[in-house]
Amino acid sequence: MNYIGSKFKLSSWIKDEITKVVGRNLKDKILCDIFAGTGIIARTFKKDVKKVICNDLEYYSYVLNRNYIQNHQSKDMAFDLIDELNNLESKKGFIYQNYCLGSGSGRWYFSDENGAKIDAIRSKLELLKKSNKISDNVYYFLLASLLESADKVANTASVYGAFLKNIKKSAQQKLVLKPANFETNSNEHLVFQSNANELITQISGDILYLDPPYNARQYGANYHLLNTIAIYDEFVPRGKTGLREYEKSKYCSKQFVKTEFENLIKNAKFKYIFLSYNDEGLMKSDEIKEIMSLYGKYSLKQKEYQRYKADNSRINKADKTIEYLHILVKN
Ligand SMILES: C[S@@+](CC[C@H](N)C(=O)[O-])C[C@H]1O[C@@H](n2cnc3c(N)ncnc32)[C@H](O)[C@@H]1O
Repeated sequence: MNYIGSKFKLSSWIKDEITKVVGRNLKDKILCDIFAGTGIIARTFKKDVKKVICNDLEYYSYVLNRNYIQNHQSKDMAFDLIDELNNLESKKGFIYQNYCLGSGSGRWYFSDENGAKIDAIRSKLELLKKSNKISDNVYYFLLASLLESADKVANTASVYGAFLKNIKKSAQQKLVLKPANFETNSNEHLVFQSNANELITQISGDILYLDPPYNARQYGANYHLLNTIAIYDEFVPRGKTGLREYEKSKYCSKQFVKTEFENLIKNAKFKYIFLSYNDEGLMKSDEIKEIMSLYGKYSLKQKEYQRYKADNSRINKADKTIEYLHILVKN
């Protein structure tokens, strides 16, 4: 999935830098990816460590990682259900009614056909779960598959903060439910949907990877439709984009970010802490250094990086940016 701040392209560099500090043998280590988003960093380490703890504030992220991280044995995964779901008759439900043009909603996030297909699959999933016909593992596997597949045919420039005025080519393609495959292994992993600053007081481990938002763009607003498909409740969508209520992150606020960050570092019961942050972020590198240095031995790595373009209307159009990895070995 295209995701603001995704570390997909940086994951091998990050892994390299982490192992340079911690060592190559991670078999007895617990790693926590506490702002996990798509979970790519947690996924990168899933097979190497004893346990991954994965967390994000957003429910869509929980669903993805509940599948990609917590699912680790494929034997009860219902790959044949994918076929059945792909062949359901369409249904003009909540997504069609509120996010497709044909319903008169005025919103064009999905073609009419794809909106009604999302509704059909999503309703059936709920039915299967409520009647105990599928396990939780299978439910999250199928729901993650739906989120990934729906995202591929969304009529947006990439985030859900706005839809396009004309339907783009990829959004005209028929939605095909594809399995959200996950790595299998014998270890158990944990996934949460919490505020990182609350969760940090309840967990401990060895390696803490931090990738908070670095600017004012709230993920709950930019990915609201993924939450709406994942939660699938009834509410009155707000405004032109059909927004739902969302929790605001203090990491997106110039006023609160430093205090929030320092509390996180202070409360972390992890020896090795790695923070990914961008050179255009709300906190300046010097400020991060100052905070982290209070709690142990600090160092910094950096890499020039071709950034992910969220849309064409960005005010700052620089294509290259420097990605920093701030490192703390805690006292
Ligand atoms: C830069 S993205 C992480 C990207 C991720 N590393 C990836 O590669 O997909 C930041 C994430 O932090 C989450 N987030 C924001 N505030 C949070 C908070 N207070 N606690 C937990 N997660 C938060 C957002 O929902 C978003 O998914």
